Amino acid sequence: MARIAVLPSAVADQIAAGEVVERPASAVKELVENALDAGATAIDVAVEEGGRLSIRVSDDGIGMERDDALLALERHATSKIRSAADLVGVASFGFRGEALPAICSVTRLVIETAPSDGAGTAIHAAGGVVGEVRDVARRRGTTIVASQLFYNAPARQKFLRGPRSEWRGVVETMTMIALTRRDVRFTVSNDGRQALALPAARSLRDRVAALWGSAVADRMVDVDDVRGAIHVSGLAERPGDVGTASRRTFLTVNGRPIRDAGLLRAAEAAYKSTLAPGLRPSLLLDIVLTADAVDVNVHPAKAEVRFRDRWVVERAVEDAIRRALGTFDASAALGVRSWSPSAPAWTTARADVELLRPADAAADGLSEARVEGQHDVPIGVQDEPDTANERESWRPPEPRFPPAPTPEPASTQHVPLLLQLRRTYMLFEHEDGVVLIDQHSAHERVLYERFMGMLERGEAPSQRLLFPLTLHLTPAEGDAFEANRDVLVRLGFEVEGFGGHTLLVNSVPMPHPRFDAERCLRETLAALAGDRTPSAHARHERLAATVACKAAIKAGDELSPAEMRALFVALGETQLPAHDVHGRSTIVQLSWPELERRFGRQ
Ligand SMILES: Nc1ncnc2c1ncn2[C@@H]1O[C@H](COP(=O)(O)OP(=O)(O)OP(=O)(O)O)[C@@H](O)[C@H]1O
Ligand SMILES: [Mg+2]
Repeated sequence: MARIAVLPSAVADQIAAGEVVERPASAVKELVENALDAGATAIDVAVEEGGRLSIRVSDDGIGMERDDALLALERHATSKIRSAADLVGVASFGFRGEALPAICSVTRLVIETAPSDGAGTAIHAAGGVVGEVRDVARRRGTTIVASQLFYNAPARQKFLRGPRSEWRGVVETMTMIALTRRDVRFTVSNDGRQALALPAARSLRDRVAALWGSAVADRMVDVDDVRGAIHVSGLAERPGDVGTASRRTFLTVNGRPIRDAGLLRAAEAAYKSTLAPGLRPSLLLDIVLTADAVDVNVHPAKAEVRFRDRWVVERAVEDAIRRALGTFDASAALGVRSWSPSAPAWTTARADVELLRPADAAADGLSEARVEGQHDVPIGVQDEPDTANERESWRPPEPRFPPAPTPEPASTQHVPLLLQLRRTYMLFEHEDGVVLIDQHSAHERVLYERFMGMLERGEAPSQRLLFPLTLHLTPAEGDAFEANRDVLVRLGFEVEGFGGHTLLVNSVPMPHPRFDAERCLRETLAALAGDRTPSAHARHERLAATVACKAAIKAGDELSPAEMRALFVALGETQLPAHDVHGRSTIVQLSWPELERRFGRQ
């Protein structure tokens, strides 16, 4: 074993540099953050060969006196904190006094800086060693040029990618910084060609529009919510737009951009049941909380933070998104949901059969299909009076759906003539065309919302069984039952633990007589086994969706006219997305113009 020796500081700096400067993008990030910490209002970034050849960052910040500029090249020299106590709630991007010496140790560096217009200093350094220092005349601010990254560290240089790939990294980094500091003007260029020119923006929305175009900004709704000491604001993609373009996510905590899969998951939980599986929304969120509720100094590149109480923050995020999306639930009618007020008229996604998107229906005035009054008429209505559209008089059959807790008469409800096709679809005529409803998916939606109401607000009507059911559960099902016992009770399952993994079921919710309570409960427990969701609300949604799916009428079930009408009316009361919880379409429309085109009338 060799003798121990203390490393020369240039070598130690180079090793430390590996943590701070990995590639051009990371050097750009450090230099731009320094400029921001110096109070710059305009920052120009110009790289050559994607930053491999050179990186130049100019700012109009406070600049440095000569002595400070020389000191800045030494490790652990920082103007931003003085003691460990200052680390709590540190507001600047930098605080370690690492970045500049690290960059200096692996590049040829020129710093030009002036604390006011006129007299300034130019410092040349290479590989961490300061060379020429002289006077320069320049405007207030600082320009740093770092050339030939890793020129003295060939092992590191080998890991650099090609200029195009490194340039992509620079653009990504600058995009993130530009989203964080909307108040600052940025330009970014590569080999003399300008890629980003971002004027100072008033809002995140404006910055998003400047970065990616106004079409992208228009797909997002504003988020702005305060829960306790936590403020969540930003932009969330409209449910109806998710999946139609590439996904973008961005998070800041107290003004610092971070990565945090947990917070994104919490935000996504707010979308549950409005998105098809596998679809993930674009989210750009700023989270602001008291400085002592978060520790920023846990990650070498400061990309992660530690929360004192993560659960509370995740809840606040989820609630904020839910509220932002909830503003689209203002009006309801059959197939009419104002997800996106600016959405185009009937979509023409597919050639002949179009998906009835709720917003499109609203835009086309389909809401007129519903006449006065929003009645709380769930699918359990016994009967409704005839309407003008009803040709024959018919005797109300025995209802197969149970009555709602307090059914209201639906005398003013306009219901068109409904026809059941293949015991699977309901067909009706509308001003704009022919509309088909999937009966299972529609009923599932209705039940889902009713179950959610029960879980979040009150009691379930349940049916006492003449002969209690006995269920033998697997250990996983048993655990799922214990974990969800309270919510299952609220859904109307009255269950006793019977020792071991045996359950005695006394009462069940009664969506309709063909409801197979045992199967529903078993399948629900299987679906819930091992489920970990961030909040009670998300758990409710999961449970309501599962029970709704198991309990809803199926394709193949014959429906009486009264049942169809009840389903139609109940559906009109729901917050209807264009698809069910599994992403299948609930409603499909064939428009008159399309029909006429196919018959050669147009
Ligand atoms: N563009 C600039 N304008 C004015 N001062 C600067 C600029 N860049 C660096 N400095 C000064 O140099 C010091 C050292 O910068 P450096 O980036 O190495 O450390 P830091 O920003 O304090 O911490 P960190 O290593 O976390 O970035 C800073 O504290 C600041 O005082
Ligand atoms: Mg810094």
